[in-house]
Amino acid sequence: MIKKLLRSVREFKTVSLLTPVFMIGEVIMEVIIPLLMAMLVDNGINGNNGTGDMNYILIMGGALVVCCVLSLFAGFAGAKTGAKAAMGFARNLRKDMFYRIQNFSFSNIDKFSTASLVTRLTTDVTRVQDAYQMILRIAVRAPIMLVFSLIMAFMVNAQLSLVFLVAIPILGIGLLLIMKTVHPVFERVFKRYDTLNNVVQENVSGMRVVKAFVREDFEKQKFRKISGDIYNDFSFAEKVLAFNNPLMLFCAYGGMLLLAWIGANLIVIDGSLTTGELMSMTTYAMQILMNLMMLSMIFVMVTMSRASAERICEVLDEESDLSSPDNASNDVKDGSIEFRNVSFEYKKGSGNYALSDINIKINSGETIGIIGGTGSSKSTLVQLIPRLYDVSKGSILVGGRDVREYDLETLRDSVAMVLQKNTLFSGTIKDNLQWGKLNATDEEMIEACKLAQADGFIREFPDGYDTYIEQDGSNVSGGQKQRLCIARALMKKPKILILDDSTSAVDTATDANIRKAFREQIPDTTKLIIAQRISSVMDSDKILVLDGGKVVDFGTHEELMNTSSIYREVYESQKKGSEE
Ligand SMILES: Nc1ncnc2c1ncn2[C@@H]1O[C@H](COP(=O)(O)OP(=O)(O)OP(=O)(O)O)[C@@H](O)[C@H]1O
Ligand SMILES: [Mg+2]
Repeated sequence: MIKKLLRSVREFKTVSLLTPVFMIGEVIMEVIIPLLMAMLVDNGINGNNGTGDMNYILIMGGALVVCCVLSLFAGFAGAKTGAKAAMGFARNLRKDMFYRIQNFSFSNIDKFSTASLVTRLTTDVTRVQDAYQMILRIAVRAPIMLVFSLIMAFMVNAQLSLVFLVAIPILGIGLLLIMKTVHPVFERVFKRYDTLNNVVQENVSGMRVVKAFVREDFEKQKFRKISGDIYNDFSFAEKVLAFNNPLMLFCAYGGMLLLAWIGANLIVIDGSLTTGELMSMTTYAMQILMNLMMLSMIFVMVTMSRASAERICEVLDEESDLSSPDNASNDVKDGSIEFRNVSFEYKKGSGNYALSDINIKINSGETIGIIGGTGSSKSTLVQLIPRLYDVSKGSILVGGRDVREYDLETLRDSVAMVLQKNTLFSGTIKDNLQWGKLNATDEEMIEACKLAQADGFIREFPDGYDTYIEQDGSNVSGGQKQRLCIARALMKKPKILILDDSTSAVDTATDANIRKAFREQIPDTTKLIIAQRISSVMDSDKILVLDGGKVVDFGTHEELMNTSSIYREVYESQKKGSEE
């Protein structure tokens, strides 16, 4: 997992490696400084039989200043490179994840919820970034400092250093107990964060529905519950973590007291220790305990970020099951479509087939209506043509070739699909239309919009084609949004155009105008029109009737009226409905 994540360090490898180097420099300086201090006091101030040695003091003082400056510089440089490395790492990580998500097929997307992808891209990356910075700086610094300080302390006075052998285990055991209690709580908290994000995201994006159903109180309660859970867990964890400080202080001051007491005895009684040495011992004691504390913090940090790292890796590991083949074909000959013994299941190996044994042949330029009850797999059927999903069995041919032989981009440019759950993006109408064709001219846009019967209402907007569309097209009506989506698909000048229930919110007259325009102006484009209204498909060349994932009938309106009982029933009920 670590290896996978570290792949995103890339151009920030140098700064990543420089950081520990600077940190080591800082450590060396910090270890030397107490030593110089001791020498300055013992040989300088107390030297020359107690009268002091000015020359020595100046040299040592100068050395001290140099060391301090070097230490400052190393510390500053380390902090800077560390921050740069961590930021860069996070940027690359986000980019890698985002690019990976762009490659996701529909079935990959089915696996992750939007909320969890958003959390993974934001919070989780930030947490890993913080941990990375910590590791670069402190995880290198703390252990080295610890070992150095211990060695130096033993070198100064081994006898006195035994104090550490008492203090360190006490602190160590205490910290371990704290970690053991806190770790599971943190793991739980981060799972709860996901739920919180989900609740918030769902509520905010579905705000209008929440209001329409007067579910505000219920939603508030849901939010209160989950955010209360997080509060409780966190305050418990923090309460336990709060013991860190008193424990640390207890060991630090206890150690100091022991040092001072034993040290003073050594100085006064048998004279085996100097005042300077005692001073430096005190500094080392502080450093040792400080660094133990740092190590414990890193430990917390790393355990906290482990969950995040796993979640990031899940995204990076997700292989898109759809890709262009090697030596793919870049030319779609015409708009003919053929389904050969096609079966499809959403979850591989579930045996739960959404489509089974589909065999149909559609000639280039034909208009095909598709009709069937909800859940009869109409959307599923058409999604297989631009390879939004791959068939489970059989094959689909477009322009006489298996869709899996085409370059994906070529195929999807030739097969334009207006999805049932469609969205517009925030930006002007022009921006949205250019999704269909980059750098399209105004004439091309107007032409597509005229075809989709959208030109009229767009011109009525004060800003015309420069009208700003809010996120998800919330400032245009349902029918306007649908027509804009159709126009966007038409921008591609596709060989096959698929409308999945794309005129359901458009009035019948405009709907008829759209079909008329299609017939007259893009006669060579194969058109597949899924609709609930019989009137939308009646005039098609052929009509496909789906039921329970199977093709039950396929023919012209007249033929189906004679042969298909389902079709006749739907026709009669809708005709009656409109007459009443
Ligand atoms: N992403 C998915 N993952 C799993 N099952 C799905 C998915 N999408 C659709 N299904 C299932 O496949 C079946 C066919 O759904 P489909 O959306 O194709 O129906 P439809 O005919 O388009 O219905 P509607 O008229 O309501 O749009 C349904 O039982 C549905 O539950
Ligand atoms: Mg559908």
